Amino acid sequence: MRRKDILVLGIVGSARKEGNCASLLREVLDRLRDGFDTETVFLSDLDIRPCEGCHYCQNNGSCRIDDDMPALSAKLSRAGAVVLATPSYMGGVTSRMRALMERTWPLRKGQMAGKIASYIVTGRRRIGIASAAMAEYFTRLGMIQVPGVLGYAYEPGEIAGDREAVSQALRLARDLRRYLALMEDRRTPTAMHDGRAAPSLDEPSRAAGPEATGAERAAAPPAQGQGAGGPDAPPPAEPSRRLEAPDEETALS
Ligand SMILES: Cc1cc2nc3c(=O)[nH]c(=O)nc-3n(C[C@H](O)[C@H](O)[C@H](O)COP(=O)(O)O)c2cc1C
Repeated sequence: MRRKDILVLGIVGSARKEGNCASLLREVLDRLRDGFDTETVFLSDLDIRPCEGCHYCQNNGSCRIDDDMPALSAKLSRAGAVVLATPSYMGGVTSRMRALMERTWPLRKGQMAGKIASYIVTGRRRIGIASAAMAEYFTRLGMIQVPGVLGYAYEPGEIAGDREAVSQALRLARDLRRYLALMEDRRTPTAMHDGRAAPSLDEPSRAAGPEATGAERAAAPPAQGQGAGGPDAPPPAEPSRRLEAPDEETALS
């Protein structure tokens, strides 16, 4: 599949551009570049301030803070998949990542529903609730989650020594490719066997019921805190830390 009009957007919440999050994200996006438009945004390059809680966006549809968020919101709206990468800071996501999450409040009314989402979290030892915060956030936006990546490292570059994290990054790239292809298939307006138009992803998403096809179940938003479902679906959102080495040599090795 070659769909350069589909954007896979990676957003880094660390100020370290050569840090562990950026390294793992690069492993993922490098493997999608042949088929998709890929972009990495470093939040440290942008002015994105925390939400003021003024509720201006409730009545006006947009935020009144004059910073870089409108440009980033436009990218998020265009993206078919979003990967948020953050170090664990004091057991949670970084303040930069938190500010981004808060500022997407106006996008919670279905604008991001049906897009694919995943996360990369790195930490020295105790990542705390950082990955759980990501999963909860994607659920709030109605996004379809594929299992994320947990990496254990401290100084930049150390992540190459976490073979399991590198392996998870390669798996994430494969999952994103597979789910984006599935979503694209569903978007293609082909007639079904009874002459009705195939369901469009532009319609409001619905939970896949017992009569849903495998593709519908796989593409349906997951239940709270769960990854995407379906018979061929990858395991639940919290990645398991397997012991085997990566099945592919990588730039990190
Ligand atoms: C302010 C600060 C807080 C941190 N808090 C934690 C933490 O709670 N748990 C943890 O495992 N690592 C913690 N770390 C370590 C970073 O998560 C770790 O170095 C990570 O790999 C950095 O990712 P990066 O290279 O992408 O910036 C902290 C580091 C800093 C600077």
